[in-house]
Amino acid sequence: MKLPVYLYGHPLLRKVSEPVGEDYPDLDRLIDDMFETMYYSEGVGLAAPQIGKNIRLVVIDADPVADTHPECAGRKLTLINPEIEVLEGEKITRAEGCLSLPGLSENVGRVEKIRLKWLDRDFTPREEVMEGFLSRIVQHECDHLEGKMYIDHVSPIRRQLIRGKLNDIVNGKTKCDYPAKYAPRRR
Ligand code: NI
Repeated sequence: MKLPVYLYGHPLLRKVSEPVGEDYPDLDRLIDDMFETMYYSEGVGLAAPQIGKNIRLVVIDADPVADTHPECAGRKLTLINPEIEVLEGEKITRAEGCLSLPGLSENVGRVEKIRLKWLDRDFTPREEVMEGFLSRIVQHECDHLEGKMYIDHVSPIRRQLIRGKLNDIVNGKTKCDYPAKYAPRRR
């Protein structure tokens, strides 16, 4: 089942998410629904807060960008309670987008190399060193679990320049090609 994607301005995107336990109800179905939602909206990653659940769960399928980023080939991941350790401090700047910020793409600096520890969908502990665009996707999605969005890494001057577009999303004026949940209206 496709789920609506919560858009920039929605307060649930700004909360720190809770760890997921093995007893979380209907977790398998939720993971399947998140993959379906991500594929439908043509994203390569989706974090649970983006569908309105403040739990530490992320789905990723980076294969669509494997042409330009070979490290992404065949990488389909479910991350439960992921933890990032930074291995390479120098930041590299590349354009990013986010399903919660439709119509926008901005340059974001991210570290190149990380060690990721996580539980996969059957709660098996996993650990891997990741680089390149795969590392970037993981950092972007894990930010969502801390209530952060890529726009927070963009310079204040740049943010000022795109303020109109950000306000349009907050005020429900941005058209979205997939089912979306806009921020509650301020009264
Ligand atoms: Ni995002």
